[in-house]
Amino acid sequence: EVVREWSGRLQLEQTLSQHLHIKEVIIVPGDVDTNTNAAMLLSQEAAKYLESILSDEKIIAVTGGSTIASISNFVQATTKWKQLLFIAARGGVGKDVALQANTIASLFSNKMNGSYRTLYMPDSLSEEAYNTMMKEPFIQEMMDLYERTNIIIHGIGDAVEMARRRYTDENEIDRLKEAGSVSEAFGYYFNEQGEAVHRIRTIGIQLKQLTHIEHLLAVAGGAKKAKALLSYFKQAPEQTVLVTDEGAANEMIKII
Ligand code: BG6
Repeated sequence: EVVREWSGRLQLEQTLSQHLHIKEVIIVPGDVDTNTNAAMLLSQEAAKYLESILSDEKIIAVTGGSTIASISNFVQATTKWKQLLFIAARGGVGKDVALQANTIASLFSNKMNGSYRTLYMPDSLSEEAYNTMMKEPFIQEMMDLYERTNIIIHGIGDAVEMARRRYTDENEIDRLKEAGSVSEAFGYYFNEQGEAVHRIRTIGIQLKQLTHIEHLLAVAGGAKKAKALLSYFKQAPEQTVLVTDEGAANEMIKII
């Protein structure tokens, strides 16, 4: 019974990785929308994958969100790695400090004997603030670190949900909907075809920088995110590994 279940899952993983045109899909049982155990398994699996690709002197960028925040609880506390550097992939989102990339970078580095660099500023900036900040030496250093990032761990969200989390005003949410936004990642909103239809003015890693990164680890589950995942993966770099759950996987299969 268990073996059958696993062979079914392997098939599903293969079908999805082919369809999404990415390196690998790893599926954990359950659905994070309804089952806290599935959320734990998702984080555990992502932590395990991260540990399998780590080596000394790596730069690891992390985004925010509840999914990525929980992964740091499941990495093993160790001093075996030398000079790991965890960096925030961008500024803060929303008001919850626990879900911000900065906090998450520090949690990972504490667990894994690394160091961390943060980006303390709002995620969405005015044009003036953005242009001024970009000239700051510490921002330039972050931009340079993004160029040298080896691993990125990121979440993927539903477009409207993420816009709400950012306290985007209703007019702008309407514009996002009119533009057909389905998913959000790295501050970019994507439509069903995977085209970036909007980007918040944010200081952080740029979409084009992702293509040089050796390991992209995307972690997102729950049937409710299926459409968002299909949208994001229309354009994702092919070296991406997705850790997801059965809820999202089965729902994606129904749609495709
Ligand atoms: C974050 C990303 O990691 O996760 C966002 O920076 C994404 O772009 C979000 O939308 C999803 O959050 P959650 O809480 O659903 O994991």
